[in-house]
Amino acid sequence: MGQPSHTRRADWWRSAVIYQVYVRSFADGDGDGVGDLAGVRAKLPYLAELGVDALWFNPWYPSPMKDGGYDVADYRAVDPAFGTLAEAEKLIAEAAESGIRTIVDIVPNHVSDQHAWFRAALAAGPGSPERELFHFRPGRGRHGELPPNDWPSQFVGSTAPVWTRLPDGDWYLHLFTPEQPDLNWAHPAVRREHEDILRFWFERGVAGVRIDSAALLAKDPALPDLATAPHPHPFVDRDELHDIYRSWRTVADDHDGVFVGEVWLPDPERFARYLRPDELHTAFNFSFMTCPWDAGRLRASIDGTLAAHAPVGAPATWVLCNHDVTRTVTRYGRADTGFDFATKAFGTPTDLVLGTRRARAAALLSLALPGAVYVYQGEELGLPEADIPAARVQDPMYFRSGGTAPGRDGCRVPLPWASAEPYAGFGSREEPWLPQPADWASYAVDRQQDDPGSMLGLYREAIRLRPVFGDGPLRPLPAPEGVLAFTRAQGAICVVNLAASPAALPVHSELLLSSGPLEDRGRLPQDTAAWLRA
Ligand code: GLC
Repeated sequence: MGQPSHTRRADWWRSAVIYQVYVRSFADGDGDGVGDLAGVRAKLPYLAELGVDALWFNPWYPSPMKDGGYDVADYRAVDPAFGTLAEAEKLIAEAAESGIRTIVDIVPNHVSDQHAWFRAALAAGPGSPERELFHFRPGRGRHGELPPNDWPSQFVGSTAPVWTRLPDGDWYLHLFTPEQPDLNWAHPAVRREHEDILRFWFERGVAGVRIDSAALLAKDPALPDLATAPHPHPFVDRDELHDIYRSWRTVADDHDGVFVGEVWLPDPERFARYLRPDELHTAFNFSFMTCPWDAGRLRASIDGTLAAHAPVGAPATWVLCNHDVTRTVTRYGRADTGFDFATKAFGTPTDLVLGTRRARAAALLSLALPGAVYVYQGEELGLPEADIPAARVQDPMYFRSGGTAPGRDGCRVPLPWASAEPYAGFGSREEPWLPQPADWASYAVDRQQDDPGSMLGLYREAIRLRPVFGDGPLRPLPAPEGVLAFTRAQGAICVVNLAASPAALPVHSELLLSSGPLEDRGRLPQDTAAWLRA
């Protein structure tokens, strides 16, 4: 049997459904409490049945795990907790046999403090060429006791410093934790090394690369205070970045590889610059991911997204959740349905029934929009954000905020696969690395597997039906206040009702799928979406 035709298409990424695998929490193949590549390999049939086109893996490289693997010690290997490089190659090949492509996560802004380059820099001492690969500086103040500048931590809510002083007097920059020293991207060796890392993974069969913290790499070489030199920003969205990504693009083009950038920028015009034809293929749409459940706001986010992408010819991406933010059913079940790191708090009241209803409608909305869709593991099961007991928290965001920010562990809990098995079938013989809530088994795959009304049933059916929308542009349809309705060239219609009263459906020949039951007389209830054949 040959590969399904869609996997051969060179522009597969323009409309793909991409499933995000947080390996540590996906499935535990060797039973040691931590998810691994063996676990993913065993679940490939599940992913094929779900119908996804590609998998994006969070970093799987050797790492001291001070930031969930975003502290990489070696970019050309696999952490022993997850498996081996040979096993990653097997996984990439087996996934491809099922018609599923692989996207790896590259972390170019910083390395782990255990990376060979940083260890060499520490050993070599102040003024050494080894230190030029990072941002080492003497301190300010009479005795160099003050940090070199005033830059804020990139973990929102954290007032922890971004400079750490060494016993030899030098300070080094780390926008995230002290265990994640920032690389100096003005140094040619840094650029060479990363292009070589890209080649390394493309040669192993990966189809794409997710670029972590993509807008932070370039720094003003003078490292000026932010307060006195805010424009251009000394470390966010600097123009030098585009030159870096143009040269990355030539590496990707040699291997038919694609990029998806983690670019958090409020200005759509600045954002779109990363998506020019000779730069990144796609970037995550954080406007949509953080948007409140409100018809006007969603419409503005969708229109704004499409308008920003149009001039550069890049497809949009649609994301409801990832490993950094509050699970969708929880977020939509709260008074504030948007997402903002700054307002994320402990003890926020949540109505999970309401949130789940909305998340189902949002799934149909995002899967009908033109572009690629990212589904974070567990979203297809409707998992809520979990409360992690303080003693079990792992996320540095929590610690760097002095315990005031809940951090991101609540969306990283090991998946439930089989309701009757220990740890809901995650595969562990011992307690998994993060505890699962008491009711986790009720979300297990085996509970949803054969139920077309489950979240899993909805996702499967929606992904299967999605081609009915075709690849044409979005055309809005007239709709009452609080209702979103649009069609695409192929004639399918998506309607989402966010208004309090039920809405009449537009003229159609067939109801293809709905996120919940319709009212009598076929009207669409509040917080419900439907796909129709025109
Ligand atoms: C990105 C990752 C996040 C990580 C940070 C630092 O935002 O998604 O998980 O903590 O970069 O690498």
